[in-house]
Amino acid sequence: MQKIIAWQKGTIILLDQRELPLRTEYLVCKKVEDLAAAIERLAVRGAPLIGIAGAYGLVLGIWRSEAKNIPGDFRKSYLRIKRTRPTAVNLFWALDRMERLFNFLIAAGSSAAAIRGKMLQAALDIHHDDAATCGLIGRYGAGLIKKNSTIITHCNTGALATGGIGTALGVIATAHRAGKVRSVYVDETRPLLQGARLTAWELTRQKIPATLICDNMAASLMAAGKVDCAIVGADRICANGDFANKIGTYSLAVNARHHGVPFYVAAPLSTFDRSLKDGSLIPIEQRSPDEVRRFGSCRTSPEKAAVYNPSFDVTPGRLVTAMITEKGVIRRPFAGSIKTVFDRLQTGENC
Ligand code: MRU
Repeated sequence: MQKIIAWQKGTIILLDQRELPLRTEYLVCKKVEDLAAAIERLAVRGAPLIGIAGAYGLVLGIWRSEAKNIPGDFRKSYLRIKRTRPTAVNLFWALDRMERLFNFLIAAGSSAAAIRGKMLQAALDIHHDDAATCGLIGRYGAGLIKKNSTIITHCNTGALATGGIGTALGVIATAHRAGKVRSVYVDETRPLLQGARLTAWELTRQKIPATLICDNMAASLMAAGKVDCAIVGADRICANGDFANKIGTYSLAVNARHHGVPFYVAAPLSTFDRSLKDGSLIPIEQRSPDEVRRFGSCRTSPEKAAVYNPSFDVTPGRLVTAMITEKGVIRRPFAGSIKTVFDRLQTGENC
């Protein structure tokens, strides 16, 4: 797999995901504004990867600052990156982690060079830790997959969305290596086609048998008994297990419940937001109407057609069979089991 994101000589290099699968092009972000625009335009996307990009962005924001301007430049970068996309909590998790370190370094009277070095190391750690996290999610998740399974997934949750092999897609890849996956149905994921453009691309490159479907075909496949389980990622998981993920996830979960198909969510603990008691409190990003009026660059509706275009929806935790994290598999009732996982974090135990 190509590099998806990297810090390189005072810049952030990003694989421009808008161009896939037709072209492999890289964006070079020299300023915080370049990075913020790349996040807003989905050149870089996927909850964990947005967090990693945000962390590198904060380093970029102070990389060329004069010592006396560092606090002000940090603040400006922090506020700019924070308002790029509202739903994936991994962004805020990473920004807050970086901010805590920054405040500590300022309070300790660190030199500008030390602040730059330590902030860069913290961003690299967030990136590398996510790779390790994906590996663990893959292993725990693969344990849930039965031999010869046909799996359905939605949106893109692979290497293009994380610092490693992915969350839901990492589970699929790990289970495939263990000989458990017969094939994968990939929802195309309207309107921006992350499934068709990105997930089908990743699976093809990994030689995992995959069949692309339109989002509205999942129910008929389940009714025909052709799906053994569904696995998706998440952008924010609340204290009670309700979670936000790409628009269309909720209907997939409803379909899965109706047909008795197990429905799994794979996500790192950085995707949990225990400050929100339920999914009604998750901020949902609304995107441009043109994303729906068009199919790629081709307009497919009247120019001024009214449009509803939330980027995410909320799936109630009661529709989820189990959640797969780097600390193990969490089961219902989620309010209690999520609390237990975070309590045990203090003692270093797994679930
Ligand atoms: O709008 P996107 O492409 O950033 O949405 C991505 C998703 O919804 C993913 O499923 C989610 O971020 C999990 S990625 C491991």
